[in-house]
Amino acid sequence: MIYRTFLILFLFTSQVMAMGNDFEETSYCSRAARKVQNWSYQLLSATGAWDYIIDGFKPARVKAMDLLDLQPNDKILFIGEGSGLDFEVLPEEITKEHVWALDYSSEMVKAAKRKAQLLGFSEDQCIAGDAQALPFNEEKFDKIFFPLSLGSIPNPTLALGEAERVLLPNGKIVILEKLVDDKASISYARRCVNFFTRFIFADINRNLTQMKGSESPLKIINYESTQGILTGLFGKIVSPYYRLAVLVRDNDYPDITALEARIDQHPKVE
Ligand SMILES: C[S@@+](CC[C@H](N)C(=O)[O-])C[C@H]1O[C@@H](n2cnc3c(N)ncnc32)[C@H](O)[C@@H]1O
Repeated sequence: MIYRTFLILFLFTSQVMAMGNDFEETSYCSRAARKVQNWSYQLLSATGAWDYIIDGFKPARVKAMDLLDLQPNDKILFIGEGSGLDFEVLPEEITKEHVWALDYSSEMVKAAKRKAQLLGFSEDQCIAGDAQALPFNEEKFDKIFFPLSLGSIPNPTLALGEAERVLLPNGKIVILEKLVDDKASISYARRCVNFFTRFIFADINRNLTQMKGSESPLKIINYESTQGILTGLFGKIVSPYYRLAVLVRDNDYPDITALEARIDQHPKVE
């Protein structure tokens, strides 16, 4: 009995540790978590539960649109768009035909198409696809937004590389996600919680600097917490863990200093 308990604890601990930053999904548990997470999103969207759970994030979406600095003619891409909630916060002056939304879950895409149609966007531009292999040519978009999706995409380094590939010169990428700051340590308890959240919705222990990779032409120019801006019970509980980040190509903006992914390193951008 003691031997069996010890063995189970050992296996659990090794999987918890192995799943951290397993972007290539080498472990059996990571691959299983991916499959279950996909089913989870199909279910959450088909039942309409997702929009209800995530309602309190609207102020952060509005803030993300501000950070994108949207111009009337901008070509915009939402990656991992889910059910289309970002259509609701796009400013009036943008060109609706220039907005694209991509998601891996077919049920999420169906929901996004419904919202797009209702709000006058092109439903044909809500597409099913993989953020790790975007179905677009180079340099197509001025502004790209990852709304709560970088923690759910299996290999976020690949996804950021793809976003950079399709980004036009002088473009901007904004990320809204639960992130671990540079130099912050991740407790064992948080690793355990992450073991379960990865099966349901996302990896909650990702760090932006690590996901971006040291070879990336992108640099972080803004990084802030959503603390105090999310609403609703769920939003209020989780708001200290979410971050809004802006990335640009270093070559496009040589005069702007690259910043670390740490709240205390950043002047708050209003
Ligand atoms: C936490 S949900 C966020 C949904 C939506 N963006 C929102 O803010 O409500 C994460 C989304 O990422 C999508 N996703 C996961 N892996 C993906 C991939 N490889 N490519 C594109 N989307 C992906 C999921 O289907 C899901 O809709």
